[in-house]
Amino acid sequence: MAMKRRDLLKQMGIYGLGVSAACGDDDGVTPDAGPLPDAGTMDMELPDAGPADMGPPEPMGPFRHGIASGDPLTDAVILWTHLTTDEATADVSYVVATDVDLTDVVAMGTVTTDAARDFTVKVDVTGLQPATTYYYQFSGAGTSSRIGRTRTAPSGAVDRVRFAVMSCSSFNHGYFHAYRYVAERADLDAVLHLGDYIYEYGPDEYGRTRAAEPPHEIVTLEDYRQRYAQYRRDGDLQAVHQQHPFIVVWDDHETADNSFRDGAENHDPATEGDWEARKAVAFQAYLEWMPIRETGVPLQIWRSIPYGDLVELLMLDTRIYARDAEATQDDRHDPERQILGEEQEAWLVDRLENTTAQWKVLGQQVMFGQFEGMASDGTWDAINLDQWDGFTAARERLMGHFAATADVVVLTGDIHSSWVMDITPTPHDAATYDPTTGDGSVAVEFVSSAVTSPGIPGAVGEVIAETARADNPHIHYVNLGQRGYYVLDITADRAQADYFLLDGIEVDEGAQEHAISFAVPTGVSHASETTGPLPEEDAPTLAPDPPPRPL
Ligand SMILES: [Fe+2]
Repeated sequence: MAMKRRDLLKQMGIYGLGVSAACGDDDGVTPDAGPLPDAGTMDMELPDAGPADMGPPEPMGPFRHGIASGDPLTDAVILWTHLTTDEATADVSYVVATDVDLTDVVAMGTVTTDAARDFTVKVDVTGLQPATTYYYQFSGAGTSSRIGRTRTAPSGAVDRVRFAVMSCSSFNHGYFHAYRYVAERADLDAVLHLGDYIYEYGPDEYGRTRAAEPPHEIVTLEDYRQRYAQYRRDGDLQAVHQQHPFIVVWDDHETADNSFRDGAENHDPATEGDWEARKAVAFQAYLEWMPIRETGVPLQIWRSIPYGDLVELLMLDTRIYARDAEATQDDRHDPERQILGEEQEAWLVDRLENTTAQWKVLGQQVMFGQFEGMASDGTWDAINLDQWDGFTAARERLMGHFAATADVVVLTGDIHSSWVMDITPTPHDAATYDPTTGDGSVAVEFVSSAVTSPGIPGAVGEVIAETARADNPHIHYVNLGQRGYYVLDITADRAQADYFLLDGIEVDEGAQEHAISFAVPTGVSHASETTGPLPEEDAPTLAPDPPPRPL
């Protein structure tokens, strides 16, 4: 007897893309929110430890966790580092310059850090110029960090922006080859990381190529801190942070698998304590370790980052802030179900209606477009209730706002596979949506594959991809088998995604190929395959001394 397509997809493990694991230790939690460090003080003296002539820092030295930057504005950018020290408090100096030798200094200062923020350092450097590449370096404990490179956002009339879009980087599953490719590329404005930057599992729960630290599921503040620290000692991850500002949102695994406002599939209050306390410590460690500008509101990471008149990045939280528990097939259309929550949704609608930027680019976690299979009664069931298919009323409200504006692009991570699709309220209705022209489409979605987290390789993945496309005519591309990322290039005429995929993530793998490119012309809301990849552009020189590969 022929299996229904929906059941086939389920059995083949599309659900397995977001694994569950029911294990963890019982450390309890320590919701001990420490104060932020003092704001940087401008003292126009050079830091004690000289900058450029010291060579790369020791692998086990005070700056062993690297450097990072993020959330660029036209006049500001976040700089980040961590200092390993036995002292109770430590002063860390920073210097920002327009040249790689750090001679044309435009900002400097000193901040104090301590155990209350895990000896992390985060500085919001202001007074910078738009669309400018800067180089920076930290000094402390008698030594200096590597030199980093970052770039402010442009203002006014902007011809072009280019981002790498990445997600789902499970350390345990393999090597971060994808991060290294992006680190070696100079012509990016920023890296958008759409979450699952870390995973919470213990060593043998999800991937066995590399072992997790600490050697158990992370639950406490100290656990989350140790996990971020382990990831940040990876040379490939350090390398990509060294060269590009990151604009990040979290997905579920920065807390626990399939998390939502009131719990998570991988959280057991009986053995792992109060969910609110776990969210609070996960959020604290996230703010400490990620180069994100803080909103001042607990658990709020949604925010806007404008790139002049060309793009407004609307970075969302579909996971923690307000998301309801997972739906069933029966209640997924319930108008009361929330994924963004009223407050965030109202903010997003306001930005869609009032932005002066041409392209409205949503950076978010779970797949927005429909991924459905036909039920025996002829209706359409969701294959994966974790994505917006489990929140269809909220999706329809937003699609109404997409229809009222032009040039909306949704960027997505979470599902460890590459997808390109039109966004339409009626994908199965040929009278109101035409998949060849995009008539009836209101936006386009580009889903990024994982850096390392597993998809569905081989013939099984190909069968599922074929079935997904056959049942969902708005879906133009699916690749479940390969790890990778895409480069999003936006001009006034079009937005183009060049997909780069890898042959594998083991030590002896990592060959990268350009897999496919899709473009969306302005005003059309329809993705079509196009030639690619776009040529790399001339760009300011990369920072020197990239960290060695961990292979
Ligand atoms: Fe993931």
